[in-house]
Amino acid sequence: MVDSQTDVLKGLENVPIKYTSLSSIDGQQGKLYYVGYAIEDLVEHSSYEEVCFLLLNRRLPTRDELQRYEGSFRRERELPNDVFGFLKKFPRDAPLISVLRAGVDLLALYDEEVEKTDPARNHSIAIRIISRMATLLAASYRLKQGLDPVPPAPDLQHAANFLYMATGRRPTPLESRIMDVAFILHAEHELPASTTAALVVASTLSDLYSAVSAGIGALKGPLHGGANERALEMLFAIGDPDKAEQYINAELAAKRRIMGFGHRVYKSFDPRALIFKNYLKKLADVKSDWTLLRTAEKVEELMVAKMKDKSIFPNIDLYSGPVFHLLGLNREIFTPIFAVARAVGWIAHVLEYWEDNRLIRPRAVYNGPPPRQYVPLDQR
Ligand code: SDX
Repeated sequence: MVDSQTDVLKGLENVPIKYTSLSSIDGQQGKLYYVGYAIEDLVEHSSYEEVCFLLLNRRLPTRDELQRYEGSFRRERELPNDVFGFLKKFPRDAPLISVLRAGVDLLALYDEEVEKTDPARNHSIAIRIISRMATLLAASYRLKQGLDPVPPAPDLQHAANFLYMATGRRPTPLESRIMDVAFILHAEHELPASTTAALVVASTLSDLYSAVSAGIGALKGPLHGGANERALEMLFAIGDPDKAEQYINAELAAKRRIMGFGHRVYKSFDPRALIFKNYLKKLADVKSDWTLLRTAEKVEELMVAKMKDKSIFPNIDLYSGPVFHLLGLNREIFTPIFAVARAVGWIAHVLEYWEDNRLIRPRAVYNGPPPRQYVPLDQR
């Protein structure tokens, strides 16, 4: 029973709404596991395609299964021709994350399986969405720059192929490895706002495309996925490590949040930030460009010293931006990359929720005026 004395749980903070075997987060220790496997092990030994299999099947694949899975990803990369036609008409100045959301809604119109929600088809729809979103984003990114889309490279795996289609340049082995790690790190993270949005839509028994589109809309916000672009903007605004302290002090004095720090669940270092930082060092060495790394490390040092008592530590977004930048990508594609990689997490949670679906319909506590008589217009 909900009445005026019921407490509102703002932001659904710490409110569990489903069981899951997909991921577990130890916020105090800064640990993340996908179906029981530590993120560090998956980064070292796995691939994005294998992580997709793990999240959608809740077990690791055999070698044959993985090879077949990689083949199904490759077969689903091409976009319907009409979709390219629509993409070319989108306004060049539209935010790329909004173009991605519109593009996913377009893809739904060309998937004749989308309205058939039997479990067997869900997996083929899932792979189609995940695979085509990468092609969709890369093509939109190039069109926005006045460049022609680059067709998929059949010999490259999902993440490396995305980087190739976005930049038009074949990635080096290190760049391919780092892009695959970035996709693995962004794949799944329990119930952030974007996954919750996808679940709310799916709980009405709507379709997977609508759930993914809702996830993109939620991820767009600066408190969630939009932080990676803003964290890099901050590092550029600071310029070099020596100016970091003055910048951070001014921002905190003005009560502005430092992008790339803090987390609703992690009350210690986000393990994904540490992994990204490690790969940023490798990339900075190869590119002989250490400024962003050193500036980010200085900001980290300052913020940890100032904010550790509030349990505010670096999150994934502090180091992901500099990595994407050194891979030759513009800031505007950072949040869309997050969405393209996280599509598997959104879909995996939806499929898991559909196994024991319950319409998500919270309540509000009424604190408005008591019932009263209507006042005719000529008496107001
Ligand atoms: C992601 O949920 C997920 O798992 C998301 C994600 C995923 O993989 O899906 O991990 C990805 O979204 C990472 C977070 C990216 N966002 C940012 O980096 C934006 C900056 N961070 C914050 O806005 C904030 O830390 C949140 C939104 C991430 C979490 O905030 P909470 O849990 O709602 O905490 P809060 O807003 O109640 O803040 C508590 C205190 C406040 O100070 P007081 O008012 O108590 O004095 O901490 C302060 C806040 O002002 N604070 C910050 C801060 N984050 C919190 N102060 C300065 N800089 C920050 N970044």
